[in-house]
Amino acid sequence: MIILGIETSCDETSASVLKDGKILTNVVNTQLIHSKYGGVVPSLASKNHEKLINHIVDKAINDSKIKLSDIDAIAVTQGPGLIGSLMVGLNYAKGLSVGIGKPIIGISHLEGHLFSGLIDNNINFPYICLLVSGGHTQIWQVNGFNNYKILSTTVDDAAGEAFDKGARILGLKYPGGPEIEKAALNGDNKKYQFTIPYVKSNPLNFSFSGMKTALLYLTNKFTKVDLNKELSNIAASYQESIIDSLLNKLSDVLDIQSTSNVLIAGGVSANKRFRIKANKLEKGKNIKIHFPDFKYCTDNAAMIAMVGYKKMLIDDISDLNILPFSSIEHV
Ligand code: KG4
Ligand code: ZN
Repeated sequence: MIILGIETSCDETSASVLKDGKILTNVVNTQLIHSKYGGVVPSLASKNHEKLINHIVDKAINDSKIKLSDIDAIAVTQGPGLIGSLMVGLNYAKGLSVGIGKPIIGISHLEGHLFSGLIDNNINFPYICLLVSGGHTQIWQVNGFNNYKILSTTVDDAAGEAFDKGARILGLKYPGGPEIEKAALNGDNKKYQFTIPYVKSNPLNFSFSGMKTALLYLTNKFTKVDLNKELSNIAASYQESIIDSLLNKLSDVLDIQSTSNVLIAGGVSANKRFRIKANKLEKGKNIKIHFPDFKYCTDNAAMIAMVGYKKMLIDDISDLNILPFSSIEHV
C-alpha cells in the first residue's frame, strides 16, 4: 500500500511517500524567510507553501520512483496549525484526491508527532509520549493508533516557544532552539538560576512564561558587550532549566503511570543536551526512553504518511469536506 503524506501546518512544506509501512522519501523544505522576523509570519508561510507545494510533492513522488497512479491514499495534516498554511496542503490534497480518484485522510499534526518514533523503529504500546514542539508541550498516554489521552500540558508557552522567545531576547535567530543549543555548547549551565514553576492547579502541568520573563530581566542588567561575553553561560543555564522542567514533570508522571516505554518527540527532542539528560532519567527509572530519528523530530510529512497508513489499514478515511483546525480542542 502506498501513501502520500503532506504536511503544511506551520513553516515546513513537506511531502513523503510511504510504501507498506516504510518511508521511501521525505522531502522537507523549511521556509528560511521567517528567520529575519524572529518568528513565523502566517501570511508569508501560506504564500510560500503555495509557491512550493507542487514542487515538493513532485520531488517526493519522483524520487521514490512510484507513479502518481500507484498512490492508494493521501494523508494530509488537518490541524492544529496556521489555518492559511493548513489550507494550502489540504486543498492540494483534495484536488489530487479528486484527480486520481483516491481517498484523503485528515491527520492531526499531534498524532504525527505521537507516532513519529515508530518510523523505522518499534515501541510497544502502551507508551508515554512527551511531545515537545514549538506549539505544544504535553504528556500523552498512547495506548495504540486512534487510542491516546492527554495527561499533562503547558499552561502558557510551549517549550519550543520558550527557546524561540529566549533566543529573540538574546539577539539570536529563529528558530531559537538550535541557536540556543549552539550558543550553550561551552557555557556553564549552573551559573544562572531560572526557577522551575510549580503549577498549583495541576502540578503535572508545565509553565515556561516565567522563565522567559526572568531571562529578559537578567539580560537587561547587561550592556551589549557584557551580554555577548556571558552569552554561552546564559544560554546554557536557560537551556538547562527548560530541560530540567521537562524531565522533572516527565519523572513525576512516570511515578504514577506505570510504563516500560517513553517516547520524547517534537522539534525540541532534537536537542542533544536534552537527550543526554533524558538518558540519565532512563537509568534512574526502569524504562526505555526512545527518540525519533533527528529528521523526524521537527515537522515532516513522513510522520503524517505513517499515521495515514495505520488509519488506511482500518478504513478510517475522511471525506472531501474536512476543514482545517487551528487548536487542539478540535482534535
Ligand atoms: O515540531 P516542530 O518542528 O514544530 C511544531 O510543531 O511546533 O518544532 C519546532 C520547535 C521550535 O520551537 C524550535 O526552536 C524547536 O522545535 N527546536 C529545538 C531544536 N530544534 C528545533 N529546540 C531545542 N533544541 C533544538 N535542537
Ligand atoms: Zn510539529
